[in-house]
Amino acid sequence: MSADAADHARLGRHLLAVADLGAEGIEEVLRVADAFVEVGRRQIPKVPALRGRTVVMLFAEESTRTRLSFETAARRLSADVLTLPMASSSMKKGESLRDTVETVAAMGVDGLVVRHPDAGAPYQIAQWVEASVVNAGDGWHEHPTQALLDCYTVRQVLAERAGRDPASVGMECFAGLRVAVVGDVRHSRVARSEIWALAALGAEVTVVAPASLLPTTLQGWPVAAVSHDLDAVLGTVDVCYLLRLQLERGAEAFLPSPREYAAGYGLTARRASRLKDGALVMHPGPMNRGVEIADEVANLPQSTVLRQVANGVAVRMAVLFILLGAGSSATELPEQDELLRAVGE
Ligand code: CP
Repeated sequence: MSADAADHARLGRHLLAVADLGAEGIEEVLRVADAFVEVGRRQIPKVPALRGRTVVMLFAEESTRTRLSFETAARRLSADVLTLPMASSSMKKGESLRDTVETVAAMGVDGLVVRHPDAGAPYQIAQWVEASVVNAGDGWHEHPTQALLDCYTVRQVLAERAGRDPASVGMECFAGLRVAVVGDVRHSRVARSEIWALAALGAEVTVVAPASLLPTTLQGWPVAAVSHDLDAVLGTVDVCYLLRLQLERGAEAFLPSPREYAAGYGLTARRASRLKDGALVMHPGPMNRGVEIADEVANLPQSTVLRQVANGVAVRMAVLFILLGAGSSATELPEQDELLRAVGE
């Protein structure tokens, strides 16, 4: 992408954090994703929008959803896709992250999708390369595309319930929406992106967690309330967003036991029955069934877990298209049919 094109892109050259997007940037991604949801319904769900572009997946941490979803998104846009699982790269022989990234970039890449256990790694990488960098999850810091696909899912469900096409529903559907973000906020990059995205769009977010699983301070976080009592909050919310207990990040050390956590904060069938009619149950995955979410709750009709995964492909297509494709030079958000022509329908 030329520097000139980057200057015009509302998303900027990279996607590193939700906070960089603001409400307008989030709306742009959701609107573009509407077009890609339509593409996904076709018999051949592929467009030539990124033909000739190369996107590299740099994954230094485990992933199922994000990695496959970005790979699928890039392929559906006709980009060339390379995946470097860092655990089997020359980093095992001692090559530094910088040398690895610069080596990959020297092959001529347009986009780098980065997952890394260290907060800030994608920012650092963005300083070293010309390519656009997308943060696919960095340590405890952020997971911006998870928040974007979750916002997309909320809007899609609300639109469907109103008998409307999601593309016809603006961001006003988030105004005053009451969302509980429940669980291991301390270790969660999803929470850090999710809360900012929802609040930017006008939702009222209540954080629900034991004190030990909250960050040291919530000062500056755009939350309406903090609660340690899930039972008191359940009947008041439109969305119950459950966070994974991050056992691999040592969450267990902050709790008597996962069983005790489940007793106080797990969404059991009994608790789910006290949610408002139509309240959504969301989870970014992977789920600890029987801990933050009961088996039967994960399978309820109002659980959007797999719909979130499905929407992840269209939302990540939108992000890649805006950063690397014709969308990168758009000064006006095109209408839906115009957008479909732009992606090479
Ligand atoms: N939600 C999420 O990031 O899942 P993965 O770790 O499987 O990518």
